[in-house]
Amino acid sequence: MNYLSITHDPQTLGASISDIDRYSKDIVRSGTCLSWKDLSVKFSKGKESKKILRRCSGISYSSEILAIMGSSGSGKTSLITLLADQFTSHSNLKFTGSVFLNGILLGKKYFSEYVKFVNQENILMPTLTAREIMTFSAQLQCCGTKKDITEYVSHIIDEMNISQFADKLIGDFMIRGLSGGEKKLVSIANELIAQPSVLILDEPTSGLDSFNALRVMKILKQQAQLGKNIIISIHQPSSEIFNMFDRLMLLSGGKVVFQGETLTAYPYFTNIDFVCPTSVNPCDFFDKICFVKNFFALTDNEKFKMQVLRNAYKSIQKPKIEVEIERQSLFPKSLDRKIIKPGDFFKIKVLIKRSFVNSKRHPILFTLRVIQAIGIAGFNAIIFNNIGYDLVSVQNRNGLLAFTVTYVCLLSTQVQLLALHSEQKQYTKEIKENSFGIIQYFLAKFLAELPVQILFTFLVCLIQYFSVPLNSANAGKFMIFFITNLLLHMIGAGLGYFSGGLASSSEEALILGGAIGIPMMMFAGYYSNIDSVFKGFFWLKYFSPHNYGFEILVVNEYTDLKLNDNVFDPIKQLNIKGNISTNLGGLVGLEFFYVGITLVMLKIKEQTQIKRRALR
Ligand SMILES: Nc1ncnc2c1ncn2[C@@H]1O[C@H](COP(=O)(O)OP(=O)(O)O)[C@@H](O)[C@H]1O
Ligand SMILES: [Mg+2]
Repeated sequence: MNYLSITHDPQTLGASISDIDRYSKDIVRSGTCLSWKDLSVKFSKGKESKKILRRCSGISYSSEILAIMGSSGSGKTSLITLLADQFTSHSNLKFTGSVFLNGILLGKKYFSEYVKFVNQENILMPTLTAREIMTFSAQLQCCGTKKDITEYVSHIIDEMNISQFADKLIGDFMIRGLSGGEKKLVSIANELIAQPSVLILDEPTSGLDSFNALRVMKILKQQAQLGKNIIISIHQPSSEIFNMFDRLMLLSGGKVVFQGETLTAYPYFTNIDFVCPTSVNPCDFFDKICFVKNFFALTDNEKFKMQVLRNAYKSIQKPKIEVEIERQSLFPKSLDRKIIKPGDFFKIKVLIKRSFVNSKRHPILFTLRVIQAIGIAGFNAIIFNNIGYDLVSVQNRNGLLAFTVTYVCLLSTQVQLLALHSEQKQYTKEIKENSFGIIQYFLAKFLAELPVQILFTFLVCLIQYFSVPLNSANAGKFMIFFITNLLLHMIGAGLGYFSGGLASSSEEALILGGAIGIPMMMFAGYYSNIDSVFKGFFWLKYFSPHNYGFEILVVNEYTDLKLNDNVFDPIKQLNIKGNISTNLGGLVGLEFFYVGITLVMLKIKEQTQIKRRALR
C-alpha cells in the first residue's frame, strides 16, 4: 500500500495515516465494525456489459450512522444488498469482493447472527399484525417460554414507540392497514428482535413524508446511540436528516467519490476546489457533485469532473480507508455471540401457524377457495342435475369427471402459487438470513395446508356428488371419489410448491406452473386417446395426475351403474384398462414423486446459494 501519496491537509481532514499508525492496536474501536473490500458488480448479457459497482471498499463503525448517498442508479442498492448478504446474483449479474465483520471474513453464519437488513419496499406479510409478525420472528430466532417471547416483543414495541398500531394488520392494496411510515417502523422493529450488531437499510425514508422520514431517522439515531452500527442508503435527505449522519459515503456511477466523517465532507470538497456556494445547502451540493445524467454515457464535462473526484479520492482518502480496513484484519476481534436457536421441529410448528393464519386471512385465497368449492361445484351440480342414464348422460358424466379432475388439480396449483406470492419476499429474506431452511418452509406450508385441503375437497365432492347425482350404489363410491380428488388436490399443491421453489419470482412461478400443469391434462384420457398420440410423448402419461385420476373416477362411476340397455360400456369405449387400486397407487406414487423432486430441487437450490457465498 502506498501511504506516501497522501497529499491532504491534516488540519482539515482529520488525522493522517502516520498519526493513525502511531495508535497501533488501540485505534481498533470498540463495538462491531463492518468493512468491505473491492466489492464489484458486473452485468453482462450478450455483447452488452456494464460495471454497476467498481471496486468499492469502505468501513462503518458501531454507534454511528453511515449514510451512502448518490443519485438514482449510482449503485447504492447494489452495494447495500451485498453488505447485507441479500444480493441475488444470476448468470447475467456477477459480483466479487469481500465483507468483514471485526476483521473476520463474513460467512453465512455470521451474516445471519450479526447483520440484519431492511428492504426499501415493504415485505411484511399484509395479513398479520406487527405484534404477530414480531412474535413469529422471535419464536423463529430466540429461545424462551411463550411468556418470555410476549414480554420481549412488547419491550421492543415500547422501545420503538409503535404500540398505538402494533395490533393493526399491516395491510396492502386489498387490506386496509398501516401507513408507509408505520410499516417502515415495524420492519425495523422486526429486525431488532435478533439484536443485530449491524443494521442495514435500503432507502429507509423513501416514499415517506418529511415528518415520518424524520421519525424513522430518529429511531435509527437512537439505535446507533445504543451501540448499533447503522448503514443506510439515502437519496436527497433533508438537512435535518443529513445532520444525523456520522459518516458519509458518496457514490457516483458505482464508484466511491467520498468517504469519511460527515463533518469532514465540506472541507474536503473545498480543498479539492469543489466550493459550495453560500446559498446552497451542503447536502444538496454533495448530491449535485455526484450527479451525472447517464453513468454509462458520460459527457466530456462529466468525465472531467469524475476524473478529478476519483483522483482526489484515490490519493487522499482511499489509502486511509484501506489502512483502517487492513487494521481490522490485523487485529480481529472475536465474534463470540452465543445464541441458542430453537429446534427444527419447533420452527416448523411456528411456520405452520404463521402460514395458516396468512391463508385464513388472505382475501383472494379465501375467495378463490370458496369459488372453487361452492362456485364451481355448485355450478356443475346445476348444469348436470338429473344427469340420467342414456347415451347423452354418458357424455355428460365423462365431461364432468374429466373437468373435475382438471380443475381440482389446476386450482390447487393456482391457490398455492398465490399463497406463496403473498409470503415470497418475506420467506426469501428469512431463508437468506438463515432463520429457517427452504425445506422446513415448504414442509410447514404443506402441513399447514393439509387440513384446509381436506375440508375444501370434501365440500367440493359433497356438493357435486349428491346433487348430480353420481353413482351412489354404495358409500365406498363417494369415498373413492373424495380420496381421488384429495390426492389430485395435493398433487396440484405440490406442483405449485415445485414451481414456486424453482422460480425466482412469483411471475416466473405462475408461468412455470401453467407450463407444467396444463400439458398434463392432455393425458387424462378424455381429450385424446392416449394410445394413439405421438409415441415420443407417450411416457408423459405416467407423470400425469389427470390420467390416473380420470381412470379411477370412470371405473368408480360406471361399475355397478345401471345405464340404459342401448348404451355401450363407457369404460371400454374410453379404452380404460387399469383398475382403481393400481391407479390410486399411481396417484400416491406421483404425490411422493412430486414432493420428492421438489425437496431435492430445493436442497440443490439451497446448496448452490451456500456455495455461491463461499466462493465470494
Ligand atoms: N439485476 C440487474 N440487472 C441489470 N442492471 C441492474 C440490475 N440491478 C441494478 N442494475 C443497474 O445498476 C445500476 C445501479 O442500480 P442500483 O444499485 O439499484 O442503484 P441505486 O440504488 O443507487 O438507484 C443501475 O444502472 C441499474 O439499472
Ligand atoms: Mg436503490
